[in-house]
Formats: sequence, structure tokens, C-alpha cells
Amino acid sequence: MGGFRFEFSPVAVLRSNLLTASEGDDVGHRWAAMWFLRRVVRAPAHGAPVRPVLVSGSRTRIREFERADVDRWLSWPRHNDLLFEGYNPPQLSTRQRDLYHRQRALAPDTRQYAVDDLDGQLVGRISLREANWEVGFAVLGVSFHPSRLNQGFGSDALTAFLTYYFGTLTMQALYLDVAAFNRRAHRVYEKVGFRACGQRWGDPEADLLGIFRRADHLELRQYFRAEQGLVRPLVIDMVLRREDWSVRH
Ligand SMILES: CC(C)(COP(=O)(O)OP(=O)(O)OC[C@H]1O[C@@H](n2cnc3c(N)ncnc32)[C@H](O)[C@@H]1OP(=O)(O)O)[C@@H](O)C(=O)NCCC(=O)NCCS
Repeated sequence: MGGFRFEFSPVAVLRSNLLTASEGDDVGHRWAAMWFLRRVVRAPAHGAPVRPVLVSGSRTRIREFERADVDRWLSWPRHNDLLFEGYNPPQLSTRQRDLYHRQRALAPDTRQYAVDDLDGQLVGRISLREANWEVGFAVLGVSFHPSRLNQGFGSDALTAFLTYYFGTLTMQALYLDVAAFNRRAHRVYEKVGFRACGQRWGDPEADLLGIFRRADHLELRQYFRAEQGLVRPLVIDMVLRREDWSVRH
């Protein structure tokens, strides 16, 4: 057959809308096309990140999380400590990885960031969820490479990220919740300026660790409540407000 091949690609259509839009065209339409291309178009699965650095610390660089970062993240080793089981990445097929990235890139109240070390290796992830851009608040999530913990990357990256969040994004407050047993995370959050603003019992879960069965977990029991055969972790809510961040910078 001849050389004609028809391929429908929504991205190609958007790109052509963008290129052909002229002065009188609908600005909203054009803006939507630009936004879609910026947030969703896939980066190459391998090779160096394509997103520009948004902010740098002394040991880390932060940029938008791109599709190839899902693969980088899923190749991290698992946490040895069973308490951190929930921070292990899920197992995802290629299609699920595409979906994972696309859903978060398109969600208006969510943003994900990649943290690289100075050699360009992905060492951490920072996310914002439940963001209200008008009022200026969001909820923070953080997870670092299990072999790179306790080496100062988390503190360095969060300090830099806060400069971006309050400075560049001009947000007003940043919230987070942290399991009370996670002393390391709690220490890092306090170190960069967060303060506790409440505490509560989290969702019930199976006591896989045997916290209320095993004698060697006596110390951990203060951070959990036994309830009908399940356990509920003590969760601390923390906040950093713009004015409190400003006085430190
Ligand atoms: C929480 C996290 C982001 C912190 O990043 P990190 O790079 O490991 O932390 P840093 O090395 O910058 O700092 C660790 C700090 O905690 C302290 N620390 C470590 N273990 C501790 C413990 N058991 N109790 C109290 N403090 C502890 C360290 O001494 C250091 O404080 P210092 O600088 O004052 O000495 C990272 O450990 C992580 O991703 N953990 C797994 C996922 C997770 O817990 N996410 C947070 C969910 S809310």
C-alpha cells in the first residue's frame, strides 16, 4: 500500500491548535492546550529529566515529577523496617504507570515534584495535595529513597522546597500529617519550621507487626491504640504558616 498513514493523537491536535491559534482566537482554548502539553505530554522513558530545576538546595535539586520518574521511583529498593511498608511504591504495569502519572498531572489540586541529588539521581519525592491555589494552602507529602535516608537529603530538599512554596508560589500555609511513631520525619518537619496543631487516631489497620502482641514492641505501643483486633496509629497534624516561615528567612 502507499505511504499514507493516519494517526489520531490528541496531543498532536492540541499542539496544532496551539501553533495555529491567531490573535483573535479563544485565549482560554489556547491556554488549555498549553497547560495540557506542559503537564501531561510524556517525557522520554529513559535519559536525563526534561523538566527544568525549580529550586536548589545545597545537596538537592527540585523539579516537576515527570513520567520517567514513575519508573525511577518504582525501581527503588523496599524499606526493611515493616513500619514503613506503606511508603513502598506499588507494583504497576506500564499502563498503570502512565495512568498514575496522567491522573496526578491532570488533577488541579495536586502537584508532584522530583528531588535529585547533585549527580542527578532521583532521591526523593515531594507532593502537594488538596491544594487551594486561591486561598493558598496545600497538604505536603514526602518520601525519600530507602537507601538514602538519614543523610541530610530530606532536610535540605524541604528547606529548598519551602522557599519555592512560599516564595515562588506565594502560598500562605502548608499542612501535613505524620504518624507519631515516625520520629525521624517529625524531627525533620520541626527542624524546617512546622509546628503541631493537633493530633488524632488514624484509620484502623491490621496489626501486622504485632504491636500489641510482641513484647519487643512495648516501646511502640504509645503510638498506637488497639481497637477491635485492629490498631489505629496516632497521627500528628502540623502546619507551617507563611508568617512563621518568613521570620526564619
Ligand atoms: C522523613 C524523611 C523525608 C526525612 O528525610 P531524611 O533525608 O531521611 O532526613 P535527614 O537526614 O535530613 O534528617 C533526619 C533527622 O532526623 C533525626 N533522626 C533520625 N532518626 C531519628 C529517630 N529515630 N528519632 C528522632 N530523630 C531521628 C536525625 O538525627 C536528623 O536530625 P538532625 O539533622 O537534627 O541530626 C525520610 O526519612 C523518608 O522519606 N522516610 C520514609 C518515608 C517517610 O517517613 N515519609 C514521611 C511521611 S510523613
